[in-house]
Amino acid sequence: MRRVLVTGADGSIGRAAVDGLRAAGYDVTGLSLRYDQASTADRPLVGDARSSADVVAALDEVDAVLHLAAIPHPSLGTPEEVFENNVAATFNVLAQAGQRGIRRAVIASSINAFGVPMNVNPVVPAYYPLDEDVHADISDAYSLSKSVDEQSARMAWRRWGTNVIALRFPLVKTREQLFKFAANAERDPSTMAREGWAYLDLRDGVRAIIAALESPATGAHVVGLAADDILIDRPTNELLREYAPTVPVRRPVPGRTALVDTSRARDLLGFTPHYSIHEDGQTVSAMTS
Ligand SMILES: NC(=O)c1ccc[n+]([C@@H]2O[C@H](COP(=O)([O-])OP(=O)(O)OC[C@H]3O[C@@H](n4cnc5c(N)ncnc54)[C@H](O)[C@@H]3O)[C@@H](O)[C@H]2O)c1
Repeated sequence: MRRVLVTGADGSIGRAAVDGLRAAGYDVTGLSLRYDQASTADRPLVGDARSSADVVAALDEVDAVLHLAAIPHPSLGTPEEVFENNVAATFNVLAQAGQRGIRRAVIASSINAFGVPMNVNPVVPAYYPLDEDVHADISDAYSLSKSVDEQSARMAWRRWGTNVIALRFPLVKTREQLFKFAANAERDPSTMAREGWAYLDLRDGVRAIIAALESPATGAHVVGLAADDILIDRPTNELLREYAPTVPVRRPVPGRTALVDTSRARDLLGFTPHYSIHEDGQTVSAMTS
């Protein structure tokens, strides 16, 4: 793998991923609807991930694809716009890559792919910690688009033999941004209860992306991600008692232990998070063990 195509290269994760890939020695082709800042990609292209011509041009000399382009929230468009943009872009990128014999793709899914966190109905997760198999209940176009993207990944594997990792990102932000999200969540913890107060430092997001691109794993896999701890500076059990008292908890969650099961990320990708909002530059495993 020498050259990686990054779609959504001008987005918040995209910029960090392009920087990380360049720092790791890869050549990077970027594809984005526009660039608000200069890109560090050595081939920054303007184009639409839904356009076969734009994606075919962007795939020139590319060995692997990182597909991040999407409308990242249901409030940022009509349901039709969000669903059409996200699903068409993912299918097109995987189809063009697959038909050109590119054998490795990583796509951005979301913790919302199971639909419960953004559900307009008062539903709760079937259990904690959340894993990749937790029952889906979807009522918004964004969550549905991510669920369909995961199916598109499976199809790309079955049809073209593309190895695809769909990363289920939780809230992924810089450390400084996370402090602001944490302050809001602490004011009203109910707002993030259904996603288990999950987050991931942007630096770990990039580490996970590179681990997935470099993984020898074959097939199509959905992989849940999160920091080792929760965003809120309170004991996980205390929050669960207050904000999710009816949800079964399948294993002990001492201290601020996260409510996302990341064993697949560890076993398949060799990825464990390094960063905690609560412990500057350290993992929390020492704290919670
Ligand atoms: N940041 C998070 O907390 C988070 C959490 C879960 C999932 N995700 C997913 O990760 C990915 C990146 O998220 P982000 O936070 O960087 O979003 P972002 O909005 O900052 O970046 C998305 C980029 O994709 C581009 N884009 C959208 N549609 C496009 C199209 N059709 N063709 C080309 N470019 C297009 C946009 O111009 C933008 O630059 C998205 O797929 C998002 O759904 C993000």
